Amino acid sequence: MAAAERPLPDPSGDERTITILRERALAAMERAYAPYSQFRVGAALLSTDGMITEGCNVENASYPVGICAERGAVSAAVARGSRTFEALVIATEAQEPTPPCGMCRQMLEEFAPHLHVISVTREGRMARWTLDDLLPKAFTPHSLDRR
Ligand code: THU
Repeated sequence: MAAAERPLPDPSGDERTITILRERALAAMERAYAPYSQFRVGAALLSTDGMITEGCNVENASYPVGICAERGAVSAAVARGSRTFEALVIATEAQEPTPPCGMCRQMLEEFAPHLHVISVTREGRMARWTLDDLLPKAFTPHSLDRR
């Protein structure tokens, strides 16, 4: 089956996991440091071994130095020994669920090209994608083989 055709996890079987990830992402969002944008983001990344690692955006007075929640979560997970991921839940205070930014998509691609990406709002709205959808024709580690 082509990567893009892979079904999302069975919503019934995975509902409990998604609920836990949603709670962890929302809690991480509360810890975000976003005094400049006032746009707090939390992320909860599920590793294939079942471990959950959180991230939040951490801004800086030198604006470009700030980091997104998703990349913070990936860095923390790798530092804990996880390099394979199944699902990512992103939480924001926006009215509509927001997808991850392009830089975060690229970082996620390195470790989990078929990742299930779920975005939630505080009010309970939810959107789902796969990373295949969000970053088609990606530059991957194999792209470097063309040297
Ligand atoms: N941000 C994230 O943390 N993740 C995204 O996917 C999009 C944007 C952060 C960066 C910045 O701190 C704030 O949201 C506004 O862009």
